[in-house]
Amino acid sequence: MSKLIWKHTYDIGLEVIDSQHRILVDLINDLYEANSTGAAGQVVEDVFIKLSDYTHYHFSSEEDMLKLYRYPKLEEHIAEHEGFRQTIKKLKSETKGGNIILSLKTIDYLKDWTINHILGTDREFGEFVRHRETND
Ligand SMILES: [Fe+2]
Repeated sequence: MSKLIWKHTYDIGLEVIDSQHRILVDLINDLYEANSTGAAGQVVEDVFIKLSDYTHYHFSSEEDMLKLYRYPKLEEHIAEHEGFRQTIKKLKSETKGGNIILSLKTIDYLKDWTINHILGTDREFGEFVRHRETND
């Protein structure tokens, strides 16, 4: 995996969400770097905790927005977040104690999930909000 560079096509058009997504991508890059430069397992664990904390923060702030807009696909969207929350939780327990170096496959999975979610599920919400605002 090479460093993930933010592309404007990842923007969903909601300022708050887009800037949070950029931070998530930065944290995934940090994780990749800590993991691949042979940094101590403790460093990997610390970066992973940052990613985990930020993911939780971002999901709950996005979910508040979904509720605010009475988004019809709220349940499905939250269910997707929930699946990823579980993955993060499992990995967090595995990296605990600073003993584990994550596999490239795992980091790729985190990256792919995040980008696919942004490009699919989140983009759809962005379009819903735009459509609503132009029709209100
Ligand atoms: Fe989302």
